[in-house]
Amino acid sequence: MPSVLFVCLGNICRSPMAEGILRREIERRGLVGWRVDSAGTGAHHAGEEADPRTLAVLEHHDADFDHTARQVKRSDFDAFDLLLAMDHTNYRDLLRLAPPERESKVHMMLEYTTGGEVPDPWFGGGEGFVQVYALLDDAVNAWIDKLVAAAG
Ligand code: 4NP
Repeated sequence: MPSVLFVCLGNICRSPMAEGILRREIERRGLVGWRVDSAGTGAHHAGEEADPRTLAVLEHHDADFDHTARQVKRSDFDAFDLLLAMDHTNYRDLLRLAPPERESKVHMMLEYTTGGEVPDPWFGGGEGFVQVYALLDDAVNAWIDKLVAAAG
């Protein structure tokens, strides 16, 4: 069964947004046995809830869930099949942390949609979070389609 860890810097904006979307889609599509979590490459916000602007967007799209931020740990590379980085910095940081035989589990979030990065919305206004939601909604659904097809 697929297991996916979404990764950003703080684990309060982008990666919990992706996690909420995937959780909603798992429920909506009736997918069984999937494991999903999110984490940050940094520890600065560990223990916090998601950013209120992320929560507001998730609530609006019926995708909110209880979230407590945490930092990525080395055992995540064993526990998850796929670690999806929001931007190039997250990607590089994950590869630095990954055991060499686990590096192929690390991918960019937007690999199957627009390519490029999910912009960090932290310093902007609420509109950035709405744009991030649109990117992530497309990307999460593209990943689900890939993973479902791969599972046969
Ligand atoms: P995230 O957003 O990586 O999408 O959770 C950020 C949250 C906090 C900070 C940067 C990005 N920060 O600098 O504290």
